Amino acid sequence: MTDQMKKITIRRMDISDYEEVVKLWRESGLKIETEGTDSYNSIRKSLEIMPQLHIIAEDKGLIVGVILGSYDYRKGYLHRLAIKKEYRRQGIAKKLMNYTEAELIKLGASRIDSLMFKDNSISKKLLKKMGYEPAYNVTYFTKSIVRHKGR
Ligand SMILES: CC(C)(COP(=O)(O)OP(=O)(O)OC[C@H]1O[C@@H](n2cnc3c(N)ncnc32)[C@H](O)[C@@H]1OP(=O)(O)O)[C@@H](O)C(=O)NCCC(=O)NCCS
Repeated sequence: MTDQMKKITIRRMDISDYEEVVKLWRESGLKIETEGTDSYNSIRKSLEIMPQLHIIAEDKGLIVGVILGSYDYRKGYLHRLAIKKEYRRQGIAKKLMNYTEAELIKLGASRIDSLMFKDNSISKKLLKKMGYEPAYNVTYFTKSIVRHKGR
């Protein structure tokens, strides 16, 4: 374990972390929707319902990693994983995933899914390392309610 890794603490997110978390998502190149799924109010509500699935990695007060989980009473999902550039390749993503998976299992999840863009080769490697398998027979469909509003 590196010296930097030894200092990393894992904790639940607080809504006061929102701006710093959004900054980390943006710096990490995630296509987030601050007008939709990732708005302050959406995150506040999901935090209230399942605080144990909103997890931060911190180095002396600085947010260096984040992951969100969700649970639909059948399956668990992992979303929005991002690690600050200078802190990558030290196992922080693995640590956040292990933590969130354990919380999902406690809630009763019998399967955990995660979506990513096809060209995100690093995420694919990470997910494979963590025991996930690509679902080649699945095509993901989506409908934006924000975009369809007022149609
Ligand atoms: C993907 C990401 C979260 C990985 O975070 P990380 O803390 O560096 O990952 P870890 O150190 O825990 O690595 C775990 C495993 O992932 C794989 N991995 C991570 N980074 C890798 C890289 N640059 N190249 C190849 N494999 C890599 C390896 O298998 C690694 O295990 P190993 O170190 O034992 O070989 C980070 O690169 C990131 O924030 N990327 C930008 C945002 C993003 O794409 N998020 C995912 C959205 S689905």
